[in-house]
Order: sequence, then structure tokens, then C-alpha cells
Amino acid sequence: MTAGMQGTTTAVRGPMIWFRGDPFLTSREDAFVHEPDGLLICEDGKITAVGDHTALRARIPDGVTPVHYPGHVISAGFIDTHIHYVQTGIIAAFGSQLIDWLNHYTFVEEQRFSDGAYATKVASAFCDELLRNGTTTALTFCAVYPQSVDALFEEASRRNLRIAAGKVLMDRNAPDALLDTAQSGYDDSKALIGRWHGKGRNLYAITPRFAPTSTPDQLEAAGALWREHPETLMHTHVSENTGEISWVRSLFPDRSGYLDVYDHFGLLGRGSVLAHGVHLTGRERARCAETGTAVSHCPTSNLFLGSGLFHVHDAKDPRRPMHVGLGTDIGAGTSFSMLATMNEAYKVAELTNYPLDSIKAFYLATRGSAQAMGLADTVGSLDPGHEADFVVLDPRATPLLAQRTSRVEDIEELLFVLAVMGDDRAVRATYIAGALAHDRDAPLDRGTPTATAAV
Ligand code: GUN
Ligand code: ZN
Repeated sequence: MTAGMQGTTTAVRGPMIWFRGDPFLTSREDAFVHEPDGLLICEDGKITAVGDHTALRARIPDGVTPVHYPGHVISAGFIDTHIHYVQTGIIAAFGSQLIDWLNHYTFVEEQRFSDGAYATKVASAFCDELLRNGTTTALTFCAVYPQSVDALFEEASRRNLRIAAGKVLMDRNAPDALLDTAQSGYDDSKALIGRWHGKGRNLYAITPRFAPTSTPDQLEAAGALWREHPETLMHTHVSENTGEISWVRSLFPDRSGYLDVYDHFGLLGRGSVLAHGVHLTGRERARCAETGTAVSHCPTSNLFLGSGLFHVHDAKDPRRPMHVGLGTDIGAGTSFSMLATMNEAYKVAELTNYPLDSIKAFYLATRGSAQAMGLADTVGSLDPGHEADFVVLDPRATPLLAQRTSRVEDIEELLFVLAVMGDDRAVRATYIAGALAHDRDAPLDRGTPTATAAV
């Protein structure tokens, strides 16, 4: 199966922005593209042409009328590099930092996903929420139960979303009902890879929760499985909270630090995405850069759980840059919106004395996140050859946005205001593989259950 619908051609017109390079590492001119009156042509789910409307309009196939979005901003779809679909129901849980929050809220909620029907309801609402927020690719945790993975991939497939996901591996330090074993976790993950990886747009991610909830045997098995299936992703958490880091030291006294636990078991490398990395040391960041390991920066979560301030400037230091993407980390994160996530990333960066400009923020939310997942040739850009996933942003979505954006002087300022003030209301439309998948002003009726009543 390919990404798109065979034989389908669509075109959209309007202001467009996208990235060809990394603005942390090259000049803005080399990295960033802005077409004030752009035209995008999509065939069979892929982008086949993009550029200035006047220059390109002769290429519009007969019978195709571009959908025109004047005064909007068309960007590659947002890519969320770290989210837990199974925590959709526990966003905004009061009063704890990481370990207490896991014990009081998360581990309770995740047990509900042994029920496949409940998993389907939440997965359906989750996928719709991604689309409402302009997120077209996500790397997500599921629960420990294989049926929680089936439910998500089924709902993602119905919408043709590009989702990378996996069954959580956890064989200690959690309630019994959530535990697998090194062997069963390996077997279940292997079966799920066979069932889902590369089927349609689905990708599998081998997903040990974090070092404290896996025995050395389980991490060993996860490393073996990744070596057997190097085309899959690896997804876990690292160095989010200082108490967590001390706990890892006591659990793995032979390792030199938290990152070294994953290194030892062969869990670093291209395609490995580690959430948070707030407290990584300089040496650990260098090791990530050397191995191609990516970090998902999750600012709303880091603030919500009081975890600390991620230093994006250090992570992207041109002398040894790491791959960095943005993540919402729902349910510790507080918004599905990657615009809201950029807003908080800006504030976190300000607290570290680094002004994160809007060009870099939009890069992190699109092509940077695609890079982090090893998908930069596939998604995250409007250049021809990429899958035609894109979002149409509305600078006049609310009265306050309209008054503020009416006085911006250039595209950079417009993007900044959208990032700081925008949320799902600013997502006018979301296209998946060239097809309209969410229209804010004319909601599509999918005839699917929503989880609202059940969550
Ligand atoms: N570390 C281990 N599990 C989790 C989780 O579910 N959320 C967050 N934010 N951190 C974690
Ligand atoms: Zn997380």
C-alpha cells in the first residue's frame, strides 16, 4: 500500500512556508522557504510540485481547481515526536511530579486499556484530536497490552495518519496488571511488528517505558529485537526528573549514568527517540549526537510536572548538534497543539537566556521532528517527493489574533504570533496525503465513536 489515494490529484494555493535545511546549523536563507502566493500540487498522496503560483499554474492538471486559502499560512503538517495516546483521559491531573504522577494517575488509567473497546474509543478520539490540531505524524506510546496497539493502528489507518507506536515494555516497578516479562514483551512486540510495521503508513516503535520499569533482561531483549528489526523506531524516556535520575543510578550501579544504561543495551542510534533529556550532561549530549539518537523536547510537560528546563541551544550546538524534535507528551503535557508547544518552548528557552525564534520553532515542529524520527525524506516538508501532509493556519482565528496579526511586518513575526497565541482554533484545515482530513469550519462526519462520554 502507498501513502495516498491512487489517481487523486489535489492542489492548494496560498502563502506557504517550509524547510529545506536546519536553521540551527545553516543560514535562514538556506534553511527556510517562504512563498507569499504559493501553489502546491499533490498526486497519489505525494507532493509533485510546489512554488510560486504564477510560475507554476500551467502545471495544474486539467479539471483540478486549487483550493485557495488567501491570508492563511500553509505549512507541512506538525509532527509530534512524543505523546501517550493512552493518557488522553488524564491530562491536567493535579499535584505531583513524575514518579508520584505515574503511580497516582498514569498506571491507574493505563490498566483500562486491557479492554479493547475502551482502547478503540480513546484511539478514535485521539486521532481526531491530532487532526484538529494539524498534527499529521505522531510517535506515541500505547499501553502494555497488545490490543491497545491494535486499536491505535486501526484508527490511524482509517484516517491514513502516519503513526509510529508500540506496546510499552515494563517488567518491574509498576502494578502487577501492567507488567509483562522480558520474554512476553519481546514476543508480543515481535508479533506486533509483523502485524503493523510498514502496513499502510504505520510504523512500529520498540517502547521500553524507561529504565526504572525494565529489568536488565528486558532491556537486553529490547536491544536484540531492535537489532533484528533495525527499520523500526526505538522510543523511551530519559533524564526527565532529578529524582528519576538518582533512582536509575541506584538500579544500574554498574552504568556510568542514565544514558549509558540505554547505550549498554544497544538502544541508542538513528531512529532512537528519547523523550525529555532535560538533565542530560554535556558528555551524554555528545554521545547522542555521535550515535544519531534524537531527543523529543516536551516543554508543556516539563513545566507541568516541574521537571526542569531543556536547553535547546545546547542540544543544537553546531559543534555537536543532536536531532531534536518537539513533543506534547500528553497526558503530562497540557495541550495537543504543536502551536501551544512552540509557545512553551519559547518561554522555556527564554528562561535559559536563549531567544528561540519562530523560524527555528516551526522547524522543530515540522522538519526537525521528521529528522528526529528518521523520516525527513518522507514527511515534514513541502518539497516534491514528500507525502502531502499539510496544515492551513488561520492568522485571524480569534479577534485577538486578528488584531495582532494585522500589524505584523513580515512572515517571521506572523509565525511568532501564531506560535505564541495559536492553538487548535488557528488550524483552518488539515490535509492527509493530499486529502482534506479536517475542516474547522465544516467538520467531517466520520461516523466513528468518540471517547468523550467514556473517558
Ligand atoms: N517516564 C516514564 N513514563 C512516563 C510517562 O508516562 N510520562 C512521562 N512524562 N514520563 C515518563
Ligand atoms: Zn512521555
